[in-house]
Amino acid sequence: MKVDVLLGLQWGDEGKGKVVDVLTPGYDVVARFQGGPNAGHTLEFEGQKYVLRSIPSGIFQGDKINIIGNGVVLDPALFKAEAESLEASGHNLKERLHISKKAHLIMPTHRLLDAAYEAAKGDAKVGTTGKGIGPTYTDKVSRNGLRVGDILHDFEGRYQAAKQRHLRILDGLHYPYDLTQLEKSWFEGIEYLKQFSLVDSEHELNRLLDSGKTVLCEGAQGTMLDVDFGSYPFVTSSSTVCAGACTGLGIAPNRIGEVYGIFKAYCTRVGAGPFPTELFDDTGDRICTLGHEFGSVTGRKRRCGWIDLVALRYAIMIDGVTKLIMMKSDVLDTFSTIKACVAYRVGDREIDYYPYDINDGIEPVYVELPGWETEMTGMHTEDEFPEEFNAYLSFLEEQLGVPICIVSLGPDRGQTIERYIG
Ligand code: GDP
Ligand code: IMO
Ligand code: MG
Repeated sequence: MKVDVLLGLQWGDEGKGKVVDVLTPGYDVVARFQGGPNAGHTLEFEGQKYVLRSIPSGIFQGDKINIIGNGVVLDPALFKAEAESLEASGHNLKERLHISKKAHLIMPTHRLLDAAYEAAKGDAKVGTTGKGIGPTYTDKVSRNGLRVGDILHDFEGRYQAAKQRHLRILDGLHYPYDLTQLEKSWFEGIEYLKQFSLVDSEHELNRLLDSGKTVLCEGAQGTMLDVDFGSYPFVTSSSTVCAGACTGLGIAPNRIGEVYGIFKAYCTRVGAGPFPTELFDDTGDRICTLGHEFGSVTGRKRRCGWIDLVALRYAIMIDGVTKLIMMKSDVLDTFSTIKACVAYRVGDREIDYYPYDINDGIEPVYVELPGWETEMTGMHTEDEFPEEFNAYLSFLEEQLGVPICIVSLGPDRGQTIERYIG
C-alpha cells in the first residue's frame, strides 16, 4: 500500500510532466487529481516532445494504469484531440486510461463564461487559460455540474438545462456567442469518451492499493495557484495542494507516503497576480530566453524572476513535502551570480513568512550566491557537480529544511540525476 504525491510548489510549469514520466517505472498507477486542460505537461524522450493536458504523464511508460480522477474537470472535445494525437503516434490508450465517472464536464458554455467573466473584470482580470476551468468548478460546488457518468443516461435534457442557464448569464453580460462549431466538436468528444473505461475510480484505486499496488498522484498547476492558499484571487479554481490528492481521488490521508515537491531553480508565473521576485530587466529576459519560458498551452510569455524561498517554505508547509526536486538549473549555467529571496520587506518590517496581503508593496530581500558557470546538461552523476552548484543545493536545503533528491539538467527524460541522500 503506497500512495506518493508529486506537486508543483510555485506558480505552475515547474516540470511536473517530465518528472512524473521519470518516476512512473516505480509505480503501478499514475493518477491526475485536479485541474483540467489548463495544464500543459511537457515530456521529452527519444527526440520526441509531447504536451499532455488532461491525460496523466505516466501514459508513455509501459502498460501502467493511468487514471483521470474525480477532482479533474474534463473537456471532451480537447480530450478527444489529445487522445487521438497520441494514438496517431502509436500509443494505445484505451486499455490503460480510466476516467472517473465523477469527474466534471467542461461544457462549451463554460468556456464562453470564462471569457465573459474575464472581459467583465477588465484590468483586474486573472489571465486565465480560457479553458472554462473556473465556471466548471463553480457549477460543481453550486451543485449544477454535469459529470462524466451522466453521459451514459438521459444526458440531452440535463445538458440543455445547464446550457440554458449559462446562456441567460451570457445574455446578462451582453457577451456575444456562436456555439455551433463548439457544440459540434463537444458532442463528438462525448461519443469518443464512451469508448473509454468510465469507472468509480475511488473504488478502483483503493482496491488496487489493498492488493499491494502503488500509486503516484500527479498534481497540476502549483501550490501558489491553489484556490485557498495561493495568491487569491489570482489563482486557479481547484485544490492544487497535497490534500487535493485525497479529495480528488478518494484516497484517505493516512495512505499518503512521500510528497515530492517540485520547483524551478528560479521562478516563473504566467497570467496576472503578485510575484514578489519578478524581474523586469535584462536578467529576467535572459532567464526567459534561456529557459524557453513560453506557456505550453497558451504560448504566453512567462514572467520570470529569482527563486522565492519565502513562498517555497509556505508551500512545503502546506503540502507536507518530504522530498524536493529541483528543475531547470541548467538555465542558470552561465550566470556569474545567482540571487535567492530569503525574506520580504513590507514597509520598514522584514518578514520571513508568506503574508495575507501578498498583493501589496512587498520587496524581496535577497542573498547572493556565486554561479557555477559550467555547462551541466551532459552530466550523469552528482559527482560531476561543480562546487558552487553543490553550495547552492546545500544553501537551499538549509533554507527549506527538506532534502533535494532529484536534480533535472535538461528537458529530456535522461537529463535527470538522482542524488544520494544519506
Ligand atoms: P509542467 O506543467 O510542470 O509539467 O511544466 P511545463 O511542461 O509546462 O514546463 C516545463 C518546461 O521546461 C517544458 O518545456 C519542459 O520540457 C522543460 N524542462 C523540464 N525540465 C527541464 C530542465 O531541467 N531543464 C530545461 N532546460 N528544461 C526543462
Ligand atoms: P501546469 O499544470 C501555469 C494559471 C493561469 C491563470 C490562473 C487561472 O501546466 O503547471 P485557469 O485557466 O486555471 O482558471 O487560470 O492559473 N494557470 C497556470 N499557470 N501552469 C499551469 O498548469 C496553469 N494552469 C492555470 O495562467 O493565471
Ligand atoms: Mg505546464
